[in-house]
Amino acid sequence: METVLVLDFGAQYSQLIARRVRECRVYSELIPYDTPVDDIAARKPKGLILSGGPTSVYADDALSIDPRIFELDIPVLGICYGMQLMTHALGGTVTKTGNSEFGKTELRLSREGILFDDLPERQTCWMSHRDSVTDPPAGFEPTGSTDSSPVAVMENPGRRLFGIQCHPEVVHTPHGTDILKNFLFNACDCSPTWTVVSIIEDSVAAIREQVGDHKVICGLSGGVDSSTAALLVYRAVGDNLTCIFVDHGLLRMNEAEQVIDAFENHFRVPLVHVRTQEKFLTLLSGVTEPEQKRKIIGEQFIRIFEAEAQRLEDTRFLVQGTLYSDVIESGTRDAARIKSHHNVGGLPVDMDLELVEPLRNIFKDEVRNVAAELGLPDNMVWRQPFPGPGLAIRIIGEVTQERLEILRKADFILQEEVRRAGLYRKLWQSFCVLPAIRSVGVMGDSRTYAYPIVIRAVTSEDAMTADWARLPYELLETVSNRIINEVDGVNRVALDISSKPPSTIEWE
Ligand code: XMP
Repeated sequence: METVLVLDFGAQYSQLIARRVRECRVYSELIPYDTPVDDIAARKPKGLILSGGPTSVYADDALSIDPRIFELDIPVLGICYGMQLMTHALGGTVTKTGNSEFGKTELRLSREGILFDDLPERQTCWMSHRDSVTDPPAGFEPTGSTDSSPVAVMENPGRRLFGIQCHPEVVHTPHGTDILKNFLFNACDCSPTWTVVSIIEDSVAAIREQVGDHKVICGLSGGVDSSTAALLVYRAVGDNLTCIFVDHGLLRMNEAEQVIDAFENHFRVPLVHVRTQEKFLTLLSGVTEPEQKRKIIGEQFIRIFEAEAQRLEDTRFLVQGTLYSDVIESGTRDAARIKSHHNVGGLPVDMDLELVEPLRNIFKDEVRNVAAELGLPDNMVWRQPFPGPGLAIRIIGEVTQERLEILRKADFILQEEVRRAGLYRKLWQSFCVLPAIRSVGVMGDSRTYAYPIVIRAVTSEDAMTADWARLPYELLETVSNRIINEVDGVNRVALDISSKPPSTIEWE
């Protein structure tokens, strides 16, 4: 598989670079900036991209690059800080000119080159830098400039090394994708072969190779990730796969039925439906502390998987729907802690099973394309993410049958109205939260003292950051009226208008 590796020097946009490359149908992965050169070479990448970064090459804590990277005879594109590092490492000059550039800037090409081949001589690009390259290293030609950057683009076509001060990965650089394509197809000689069909074929072959004739289990949650992983493995090993769907009683309205229907009736994948609602409720009885809730639920999942793996003899493998974004998150040092508690919803870490992770190379939107190609029904392909611990972490305080019913009904109304308004797919998530407080209201002529429901709706690209969704007032009005009128035990509806960070998407 042709691969272009992006070395992450800590820019806000590093992840976006890999994503844009993949949108050009070339597989790309983000790796830490200090990955040993030998490890990089061993992967035989077709090209390397050095991301931007927040520091100056002259800062005491500047992230450095091993100059042997430029000796690998692999094309390299340095973007922003990446270009300055390349310059610094290869003997050019980076200067603190005092002329920073932030935002849209006009770029003028001064001579022909590879990166801007077939692109307009003057174009808008998006800049975000303080230092500038003033003298490129020997062998490089400056091919473009802006008012504040005498060397905004530089190329060494012989060694296939390129630097660009602006950010081709952001949408504010209108020709950004064309610039990346020129690097990928003209400098790296890549071919655009990373397609949904190739993803499916490659992963089915890899799964067969990994698993052989052994039995495999898959914890199916009904979400698009685990469902797609299960379908890929089923395609690879057929009935040697058994899916385990745990109905812990913390699911949304009609959720269990939809999952069972799809897998048992439509795909005919061997499925064990573990109905264990009462067990989970008993374990959660009296528990109010969020982390304790997650721990209890996670552990119980483990026990169930263990029991099923033992029942199905010769089970050596566990399928997991880990995504590329999860891999990146755990690879970027400071994101690891956030993620650890997310694995609670069904990752049996202490089980003696080898993991099969067919989605670890792809993004959520690519998973959805694969899912559609594999025939997963639309309502599952486009299902918004739902946490493993389910409604338990959206009920603040104790989880009881009564409170679960309240939340489930309110949530169903919100989903119905969000869909009716045509917004379901535009939102990363939309759901209700049931706080552990009550307030006074008046219904008819009587006083009520009941729970509020909080509406939480966010937009996001990958759940690492999120913004609260600006839902239309008419939709909010309908949802509020319906919830208060139709759900017993609720007399007030509130809207959560917090972004992430500093809040998180879920409340617990
Ligand atoms: P937070 O609340 O940390 O959530 O902003 C980020 C994303 O992760 C989902 N989430 C989970 N998913 N098991 C999961 O499978 C979990 O324990 C879990 N906790 C949060 C959350 O819904 C959001 O999409």
